[in-house]
Amino acid sequence: MKTPKDSAIEMREMVMPHHANPQNTVFGGTVMSWIDIAAAMVAARHCNRPVVTAHISDIDFIAPVKIGYHVHILASMNYVGRSSMVVGVKVVAENPMTGERRTTTKAYLTFVALDDMGKPVEVPGLIVESDDEKRRFANAQERSKAKKRLKSKLK
Ligand SMILES: CC(C)(COP(=O)(O)OP(=O)(O)OC[C@H]1O[C@@H](n2cnc3c(N)ncnc32)[C@H](O)[C@@H]1OP(=O)(O)O)[C@@H](O)C(=O)NCCC(=O)NCCS
Repeated sequence: MKTPKDSAIEMREMVMPHHANPQNTVFGGTVMSWIDIAAAMVAARHCNRPVVTAHISDIDFIAPVKIGYHVHILASMNYVGRSSMVVGVKVVAENPMTGERRTTTKAYLTFVALDDMGKPVEVPGLIVESDDEKRRFANAQERSKAKKRLKSKLK
């Protein structure tokens, strides 16, 4: 059993001109790539196995990020099933001239741990202690149930 703190990470990037879209703010695909990498690192740290991205849900781009801003990508384990793991990611942009920060993107990613044959394998359980950890765990369960309901409705 592990806690979210055992695998949580914070990754930092600076938005460079080659990261920009035609509006001269950060390209969404670049942010998605940073999110996927950060979340995969959390999943691998939790299970100490190779992991693959199975699903990305509820990715919200809340505000644009300017070139030159610093980006903090905060990722932590929210929920664990048998072989699947849900990682929550929050992206916070910082204006380095003022120190002002705001949340610009949020997303939830499901990873599956693989055994040596590339098949899903059981992962360690998750101990949730703080109110925030318990809320994230319950929200991830609810999101998973909602996804299953929608999938069967849209068949
Ligand atoms: C992810 C993958 C390994 C699942 O394989 P599978 O044979 O469908 O596995 P199972 O049906 O046994 O499901 C295994 C677990 O994954 C979960 N899962 C599988 N697909 C999922 C999806 N789309 N969304 C959420 N969870 C998913 C299952 O609920 C199950 O969870 P549990 O073990 O915690 O109960 C397989 O679909 C795959 O290899 N996908 C491609 C991954 C990839 O290339 N990603 C991009 C690059 S990293």
